[in-house]
Amino acid sequence: MFDKQTVRDADVRGKRVLVRVDFNVPLHEGSVVDDTRVRAALPTIRFLVDNGARVILLSHLGRPAGEPDPRFSLRPVRRTLQRLIGRNVVFVDQTVGPEATAAVERMVQGEILMLENVRFNPGEKTNDPEFARQLSELADIYVNDAFGAAHRAHASTVGIAACLPAYAGMLLAREVETLTGMLANPEHPFVAILGGSKVSDKFGVIDRLLESVDTLIIGGGMCFTLLVAKGIDVGRSLVEQEWIEPAKAMLVKAESAGVDLLLPVDFVVAEAIAKDVDTKIVGREEIPSESMGLDVGPATTELYKGSISAAKTIFWNGPMGVFELAPFETGTKEVAIAISRNNRAVSVVGGGDSVAALKKFDLEERVTFVSTGGGASMKLLEGSELPGVEALLDR
Ligand code: 3PG
Repeated sequence: MFDKQTVRDADVRGKRVLVRVDFNVPLHEGSVVDDTRVRAALPTIRFLVDNGARVILLSHLGRPAGEPDPRFSLRPVRRTLQRLIGRNVVFVDQTVGPEATAAVERMVQGEILMLENVRFNPGEKTNDPEFARQLSELADIYVNDAFGAAHRAHASTVGIAACLPAYAGMLLAREVETLTGMLANPEHPFVAILGGSKVSDKFGVIDRLLESVDTLIIGGGMCFTLLVAKGIDVGRSLVEQEWIEPAKAMLVKAESAGVDLLLPVDFVVAEAIAKDVDTKIVGREEIPSESMGLDVGPATTELYKGSISAAKTIFWNGPMGVFELAPFETGTKEVAIAISRNNRAVSVVGGGDSVAALKKFDLEERVTFVSTGGGASMKLLEGSELPGVEALLDR
């Protein structure tokens, strides 16, 4: 259950409402190439506009060095938001300062103002109380809808919540409810599919998932550390040596928890990661010493599809192989298709790469929930508190 007050609990009419959004979107030649995060923020923005608030939007974009840097300007995102929301959005080249203050003073009810990248200010990442106070002076109410940044204890996600009445936005509330609800109360069979390159990045999540899931499917580069832990030779595939012992402990934990932990039984291998390289399909005990496993093989895909199709709850994070390159995309594609075909299951997909894979194969609309948070969703699933959520008013 989500135990924080949300924007629906606030009296916003006529108020200046500062909304922290996560508009950290990919840009190419000055244009937004993926507007998912902007779309995801629309319900909160619309709610505020419809209820007569003066809406001030605040976000980070990329990782600038604490000073203005045109490569990280939010200006292109303003165009995207205007198009999606169908209203004018005023943009100001400052986050705090005389121009920002004057722009806020000129606002009328129902108007939207977007401030420049909050990370252009050194006080943002250090959670400087003085910077948080300056931000808070722009508004009467604070709303955090930036789920993707909720694991960061920054001035715009934590410091400011001590200065203003602080509420959750609709996206943030839905993300937390969906992800925590999935772990606390899943319909069984619950199947989690984890991939991506490093087992070290997912260790905390795996540990926590082993308490809830019936089946844990592992693919991607991370499976090789587990195979080595089982005594299998994986050629030149990616292995994190220092994680072999923890991986052994994980295998033991899965067994004693009664979790069916599925590892690949075959691979697409090659000697280089390139789009025109020669590939071979081999059993997992036959990876040539000079080759790397770069995708799961067809027998593995069949095995994984069987579990996915019988699931009632599915969580997917991380690709099965180097899906960006055609010779190594099939495993990820087949898994994505299997998830999308199981419409009796609640399917939750999190993490940048699996979401990118869903988009690549045009399956984004075919799953129940796509999380907008990479790091934040992993932190939440491993049982850590998110500082940006903790800072909000309790219900
Ligand atoms: C993300 O893209 O995961 C969030 O926007 C957080 O960005 P950060 O990792 O730069 O803090």
